[in-house]
Amino acid sequence: MITEKLQNAVNDQITAELWSSNLYLQMAFYFEKEGWNGFAHWMHKQSDEEREHAIRLANYLAKRGGEASVNMIDVVPSGWGSVKEVFASVADHERHVSKLIDDLVDVAAAENDKATQDFLWGFVREQVEEEASVDAIVNKIERCGESGLIFLDSELAKR
Ligand SMILES: [Fe+2]
Ligand SMILES: [Fe+2]
Repeated sequence: MITEKLQNAVNDQITAELWSSNLYLQMAFYFEKEGWNGFAHWMHKQSDEEREHAIRLANYLAKRGGEASVNMIDVVPSGWGSVKEVFASVADHERHVSKLIDDLVDVAAAENDKATQDFLWGFVREQVEEEASVDAIVNKIERCGESGLIFLDSELAKR
């Protein structure tokens, strides 16, 4: 049985994952408006993944006798100025999420809940991949310049 304190902290992470999902959906809408269909496709996938993270956390809470809840999701930013600005925002956001996950592991440790710590290591590992994959995209954007974006858009359409 999970403690109430840890349950609440996991529910806060569910909120953060759903907020991330909305952020990436908003970015997909932005790219669609700008005619970047490959980048929009990538963002839709990213948005779906964040929603899956929320559901994975909820399923875990249920297994441990806790209760998952969908709390209020704050409005997400919109109106970026360039492709690079969007992906740089994703990179910043993923680093922020990594910190949230780290803090959640600390709560699980303070509650002496080994099972939850073990479960969360999967998220810690996944954040390493998230940060690396977005950093790689930002790096490509910096190298390819405006004229190369058309090729990167086609590449990300294959995700
Ligand atoms: Fe996530
Ligand atoms: Fe993520």
